[in-house]
Amino acid sequence: MKQAAARLRMRMKARQLAAAARRAAYFSCLTLACLLVHPVIAAETGMSSDPRTRVPMPEMLRAHMLSNMREHLLTLGEIQQALARGDFDHAADLAEQNIGLSSTVAHHADQLAPYMPPQMRQIGMTMHKKASEFALIAQEASADGNLSRALNALGDVTVQCAACHAAYRVH
Ligand code: HEC
Repeated sequence: MKQAAARLRMRMKARQLAAAARRAAYFSCLTLACLLVHPVIAAETGMSSDPRTRVPMPEMLRAHMLSNMREHLLTLGEIQQALARGDFDHAADLAEQNIGLSSTVAHHADQLAPYMPPQMRQIGMTMHKKASEFALIAQEASADGNLSRALNALGDVTVQCAACHAAYRVH
């Protein structure tokens, strides 16, 4: 009698354990499925942890824009080095030709602009203008040696880089 009762208890225990294992397996499958599916849903619905606005554009233009960007960064470094040497005219040339209003044709800005939201286009235009303003101020600095004013004007350019990067992405 006692043995039968013990067997029954053991069988019930085993059944409970099996049910618990099934529940655990079910939930881990569910978790895995969620993890796998979630990024897909996120991508398809445009949900993302990245709050920047994604700007779709044809692959060739995107590659071209990113190449312009890398050139901009290189130019900023070269401008800083020219300023450090006191070569204000060279700093002015670099800014005007590579980032300023004179650079827009070489950088195919007219082809890129239609893909940009108006606000993004505006920031891009302000960056070109600020670079041209810097070029003028750097030229003045070659006469009056006012490095601090030139550096401040260069800062106005990089503020535009940062403003656009904070708001938009192409990936
Ligand atoms: C009008 C908007 C805008 C302006 C202005 C701008 N950028 Fe960008 N830049 C972008 C976007 C969009 C990306 C791609 C970011 C992404 O998709 O994560 C980018 C990417 C870059 C990259 C990475 C390139 C690569 O190969 O992935 C560099 C470097 C860069 N920018 C430098 C600059 C510098 C320096 C300036 C200012 C002189 C500047 N950018 C101004 C929009 C801008």
